[in-house]
Amino acid sequence: MPFDTAGSWTPVALSADLPPATAMPAWTPAGSIALWRSQSGRASASADRCPHRGMRLSHGFVRGEALSCIYHGWSYSPDGGCIRIPAHPDLVPPEAIRVAIHKVDELDGIVWVAVGEPTAPPPRFAGRTPLRSITANADISAIESAAGTKADADGLIRVSQARWVGLLAAQQGDRTLIHVLIEQGRNPADLVMASRLAEAIRRQAEALQQEAA
Ligand code: FES
Repeated sequence: MPFDTAGSWTPVALSADLPPATAMPAWTPAGSIALWRSQSGRASASADRCPHRGMRLSHGFVRGEALSCIYHGWSYSPDGGCIRIPAHPDLVPPEAIRVAIHKVDELDGIVWVAVGEPTAPPPRFAGRTPLRSITANADISAIESAAGTKADADGLIRVSQARWVGLLAAQQGDRTLIHVLIEQGRNPADLVMASRLAEAIRRQAEALQQEAA
């Protein structure tokens, strides 16, 4: 990777894209994860594999404060412990039935997931607010080329004419998640321009990626 993703933190999603009582797939350099938010608003991340028969937990559903597997309905708490097995409603699930979890931090509208034990909190981007995320079928180098600038150590590329920055997170294969952050207080026209410019960079990066293939 051309930059250190803020130590062991990965910006996996924007907070706005993870409403309460939902689950979604996400990706870190350690592999795919199930990202979910409880009814009360707590964001959690776990391995994307149910300990029962291996179904992807990111395809599951959230009830209250638990994530349930879509296959047989085993439910897991934010700490990874199995708390319910529907086929055996009177059984207290053994402690050993657990799913691996990842540390989550949510700052300024960005959901960060740790790989391993982080030594510092995720970076903060003063004066910026998230606008949207875009997935590009291009690697980070292609996005840097399309934007005409390099990502910094936090994974930021700066596109000054639109007063926005892109926070990059490498995804599986040659894909990259671009979180578009814009200066706070910009007017609606600026938001539209930033969004269009981000799309233009995505298209150009994908074209460069195809040329290189
Ligand atoms: S595979 Fe998840 S509950 Fe059976």
